Amino acid sequence: MIKNKTVLVVGSLNMDLVASAARLPARGETVFGERFATFPGGKGANQAVAAGKLGAAVKMVGCVGQDGFGRELMDSLKASGVDTTFVDQVEGATGTALITVETGGANTIVVVSGANAACCPQHVDAALAAETEPGILVVQNEIPQATVEHAIRAAKARGWTVILNPAPARAIGADVMPLVDIIIPNETEMSVLTGLPVKTEADAFAAAARLLAQGVGAVIITLGDKGAVCCRRAEQFHVPPYRVQAVDTTAAGDAYAGALATALAEGKTLRGAMQFASAVAALSVTRAGAQPSLPWRDETDAFISKWEVRV
Ligand code: RIB
Repeated sequence: MIKNKTVLVVGSLNMDLVASAARLPARGETVFGERFATFPGGKGANQAVAAGKLGAAVKMVGCVGQDGFGRELMDSLKASGVDTTFVDQVEGATGTALITVETGGANTIVVVSGANAACCPQHVDAALAAETEPGILVVQNEIPQATVEHAIRAAKARGWTVILNPAPARAIGADVMPLVDIIIPNETEMSVLTGLPVKTEADAFAAAARLLAQGVGAVIITLGDKGAVCCRRAEQFHVPPYRVQAVDTTAAGDAYAGALATALAEGKTLRGAMQFASAVAALSVTRAGAQPSLPWRDETDAFISKWEVRV
């Protein structure tokens, strides 16, 4: 039997402090909220939890503070099947995210890095040194840029597949781009990275060409309720969305990235992995919060088969 590849997520862990309101406040405006809740989050941890709940052999690299939020985040990772050997508990406060969610699911997020700023190349090296076979690296931009770039270089040098989720959007070194096998921005991030508007499928294909020219292997642009597009040298295609009633879109992109890595680790094709990731992201937006919204494998398989019967 062929063993699934290891998924190594290098990234942030945040406690999400979430206010739900009828609508997002405008600049300078105060609105009343309807509910307040805290949820384990952080783009990196969400991606690791997504993969863990889907059954991947997943390890997390990152930093939390030695406080209550840090302990809750560690517990959430472990309960989701994520190996936390390489999550360091450092001095200072755990990262936090202040999130407002409006009816219909749209949100705004302010991240305060805290312990995430301590995630450094040595953390990455320790985790990579423990692996005997190349796996799949997943990295995002809520940790220092030097660590992101180091992780990409070090993993690629060992023959790993590299997935970059450039969130929040930030340019990376021109020498690093060709080392990225798959980049997964959303429309906003894609616009920041390329300077082009990305509103339609056609815009997305045009913008993707810019990143392909910089040497990236494949560009997957997530378009929310319009699905996702993929561009690589040999082909370009659109994967339609699963239409659901959204209540909270927080972590939908993380659900997508974690699920894509899981499916690729299992040996699925890129198109098959995108279809699977699209189902996982759709399920996640039907529930509140970041990590609690991420579906388990049995729920995901049931959702996909129910959908196949319907279409
Ligand atoms: O992508 C969603 C995540 O972004 C939240 O969980 C929050 O912590 C921020 O990192």
